[in-house]
Amino acid sequence: MSETQIAALPDVIQGGMGIAVSTWLLAREVSKTGGLGVVSATAIDSVVARRLQDGDPAEDIRRAFAHFPNPDIAEEVLHFYFKEGGRTTGAPYLDVPKLSLKPSKLTNNLLVISAFTEVWLAKENNSGLIGINLLEKIQLATPATLYGAMLAGVDYVLMGAGIPTEIPELLRQLSDNNGVKIAVDVSEAKSKHFLAFDPKQISQKVPKLNRPQFLAIISSHALAAYLAKDDKTRPDGFIVEGATAGGHNAPPRSKDAIGEDGQSKFTALDEADLTKVAKTQLPFWLAGGYGTPENLANAKALGAIGIQVGSLFALANESGFTREIKDELLDQLSTDTLNVKTDPFASPTGFPFKVVEIEGTLSGASAFDERARNCDLGYLRVPFERPQGGIGYRCPAEPLKTFEFKGGTSQHNSRSKCLCNALMADIGLGQLRVDGKVELPLVTFGSDLAGAKELSKIHPDGWSAIQVMDFLHKTN
Ligand SMILES: Cc1cc2nc3c(=O)[nH]c(=O)nc-3n(C[C@H](O)[C@H](O)[C@H](O)COP(=O)(O)O)c2cc1C
Repeated sequence: MSETQIAALPDVIQGGMGIAVSTWLLAREVSKTGGLGVVSATAIDSVVARRLQDGDPAEDIRRAFAHFPNPDIAEEVLHFYFKEGGRTTGAPYLDVPKLSLKPSKLTNNLLVISAFTEVWLAKENNSGLIGINLLEKIQLATPATLYGAMLAGVDYVLMGAGIPTEIPELLRQLSDNNGVKIAVDVSEAKSKHFLAFDPKQISQKVPKLNRPQFLAIISSHALAAYLAKDDKTRPDGFIVEGATAGGHNAPPRSKDAIGEDGQSKFTALDEADLTKVAKTQLPFWLAGGYGTPENLANAKALGAIGIQVGSLFALANESGFTREIKDELLDQLSTDTLNVKTDPFASPTGFPFKVVEIEGTLSGASAFDERARNCDLGYLRVPFERPQGGIGYRCPAEPLKTFEFKGGTSQHNSRSKCLCNALMADIGLGQLRVDGKVELPLVTFGSDLAGAKELSKIHPDGWSAIQVMDFLHKTN
């Protein structure tokens, strides 16, 4: 990469935080001030369908839909989900179809138009850079989501929580509007399984699309070297994310990976060797506790282009977290009571997940025990081959008996939490149950609080995305 190309790269990336904590509003503000604003793609079809059912009060979604290349799809989605003035009191949200290896037309259409909408809104009247974040674990949503984002001109794709070997080639094929096929991990499979997606299903008339830059989110130098060694798998850069980052973390590499306090235990084995990452000659950014001006300078001194920051932006006014959650976190920061734990078992993915202890959320044992298990969103379901043939889907957070009946064996599944429903509740889109209860939130945040504490002293009542950008660039 030439010096001019490197100089054009943003030094601050606002992390893609799911579900819809990284909204188009947040990403747009960050990108307008020269950062890379990133929207979250996780469960984006449910997010858009629920926002429509809440009446789309500012008409944002309908404005984006009017620019979608296939008006019939926009009309179909509005017909199913849009409720003028919002849902009637006491009505639950209508769910979207679950992801599957053989998705219905509506599933694909919804994924494509939803990802399109989130990116389109982030780029509306904005010439800055916009990215989209996907979790590798949610493979069944990947091709349709990427295509939707590319239809809206997304500049960057960022993917973590797995080994994203197929993405560079997928992006090349989708930019030519070619049909694609990705290999899907199917448990107990005796043969290989693939998910197909054909852009022609959306429209026959789309011209060649821009191929976005692809940044792989990794935690080890070995993975950087592995991905970089082949043209087919080489990304355009890396986000090197450490164990203090919010959301999911890579599983610890040491054998006794759980400490006496019950948390995942990280050691020096979990730290990437940056000199080895630099040897790939690809640009990289550092994430996980880097959200201070000093750490931006440190990252650059270590050879990085800059940093990816999550937690500071999760607290920004424009993020998707409800005002109640932001106020609670700000309050805990100011009283030094914010306690973030790395729970080895909370996430159905089996990856450690950062959880903030907040009363009245699923972090508490009693709230968790009282919740009736169900799996109605199903983004973290894993496909498996049934002994009698055919494909089934299971999630460790679904009712225990159902999980076991489907051959699920995780010894820790009784502690798996339904992240799908809880993270929807974090952004005010929690499902209403027949007993009148609304799903409870479960809040995730980074465990290195230095930047958030410093910023909360400057802005005790909260801050905007621009104020985060100003803070990070203070001494640079
Ligand atoms: C609320 C929250 C949700 C997150 N969700 C995701 C996600 O869906 N995908 C992802 O790649 N990273 C996710 N992250 C990680 C961030 O993108 C970022 O890399 C990380 O937070 C950086 O560490 P910091 O919080 O110390 O700044 C999340 C972080 C937070 C705080």
